[in-house]
Amino acid sequence: MNGKRIPPYLMIVVGGTGDLARRKLLPAICRLREKKLSEFYMIGAGTGRQHNDATYRDFVARSVEDEGVNLDALGDDFGWLYYNSVGGGTLEEYRTLAARIQELEKELNLPGNRIFYLAVPPSVFPNAIKNIGEVGLNKSGGDIKLVVEKPFGQDLKSAETLNELVHGYFSESQIYRIDHYLGKETVQNLIAFRFSNAMFESLWNRDRIERVEITVAETVGVGHRAGYYDRVGALRDMIQNHLTQILTLIAMEVPTSLDAESVRHEKVKVLRAISPISPGDVIYGQYTRGAVEGREAVGYTEEEGINKESETETFVALRLNISNWRWQGIPFVLRTGKRMFKSITEVAITFRRPPVSIFRQFSIKDIQANKLIMTLQPNEGFDLYFNVKEPGDSYKLPTQNLHFQYGEVFGRIPDAYETLLLDVLRGDQTLFVRSDEVESSWELYTPLLTPHSNVYRYASGTWGPDAAENLLNGDKWCTE
Ligand code: BG6
Repeated sequence: MNGKRIPPYLMIVVGGTGDLARRKLLPAICRLREKKLSEFYMIGAGTGRQHNDATYRDFVARSVEDEGVNLDALGDDFGWLYYNSVGGGTLEEYRTLAARIQELEKELNLPGNRIFYLAVPPSVFPNAIKNIGEVGLNKSGGDIKLVVEKPFGQDLKSAETLNELVHGYFSESQIYRIDHYLGKETVQNLIAFRFSNAMFESLWNRDRIERVEITVAETVGVGHRAGYYDRVGALRDMIQNHLTQILTLIAMEVPTSLDAESVRHEKVKVLRAISPISPGDVIYGQYTRGAVEGREAVGYTEEEGINKESETETFVALRLNISNWRWQGIPFVLRTGKRMFKSITEVAITFRRPPVSIFRQFSIKDIQANKLIMTLQPNEGFDLYFNVKEPGDSYKLPTQNLHFQYGEVFGRIPDAYETLLLDVLRGDQTLFVRSDEVESSWELYTPLLTPHSNVYRYASGTWGPDAAENLLNGDKWCTE
């Protein structure tokens, strides 16, 4: 974090009345405004319900209050917020938006620093980017940035086309591709943990590690996002971005510094070293009826808005190999699913057992491997599992753990969007996905996209299809 004063910005949120804006962006913006880091104004460029400035301010106040922002403590009249509809997505509407922006910049005496934030479904990105460029909003003499939400493309080809389109109007140094997992403190802490604790880094390789498992399990179902989700599925929604980002941070080499290019360079090297994933190493699943946390849950195809015949996957487990000096031959398992037994995001590193057992009563298989579990959410923290001798006249080796939990040591952890927005304002691209990174990731997963030959069914409230357990020779796939 650098303490430099941030110059004034006008942020234009396309999708300013949408779900993402309401639930994530606006609360984060309010919390950042509380810190008074910069002079900051925003236009909600709405694609949904119509507003004027006054009703939009009211809408935002209610939305952020619903998300836990204390309006009294905030003491804000929301006078920094404006509204302008771009609902039809026409060039004419963007001309009107451009006029409004110029008018406000003049009235507020702003230097033309603009952030365009696309908080809209991916199908809207190309049109919005093109219109912003065509009406000349990408030029002002000030500092201009473009923030794009995930998923960036649907596959390799569409990601390349989208990159080409964006690069027609913006340079790479102006583009901030969001993967909100990178904004999570605990995900960033993977870097801190690895590169500030030499003890672990010296064990971080194929000689000492037996396998790595990255799990993002959610109890929620598809919710109100049927239209989006049924076309996308878990591979595109979670694996290609969030889990792969975690993977690159776990597996990358030591960057020369924490600047954006050094870190992103190392992440891309990991992606390029991953061998093509064999279809036999991927298990797809879809939830059926069941009970989650004691409550009955309907099956995926019974959800509102989902095609009854849908074969879209809500669960993916896959095994991959990073073919480089550090990791060759070590299985990395990525798993994610909706309507799972419980919500947990964790990285489990299993270390190799000792080469032989000197304890006569145990074979080497009876000695538990050391494990490091990094829990990214909820109950963020670390557990290091090791064996001890139980007091007594013979050797019994129960496993114990060293435990650290963020919540017990630090106060409130900032939300990912607060961190990411601040980085956009400061111009730090370290936690954003570079164009070659997004393309390398799609290159890896595009051959695995639909139609899948076999989508196993699993009951809501379980850990997914049994077939997924076979990816690790039948070992159970969660620590708890
Ligand atoms: C989003 C996905 O990117 O991440 C959702 O589209 C998923 O399907 C969500 O539920 C999970 O994010 P978090 O921060 O709740 O783990």
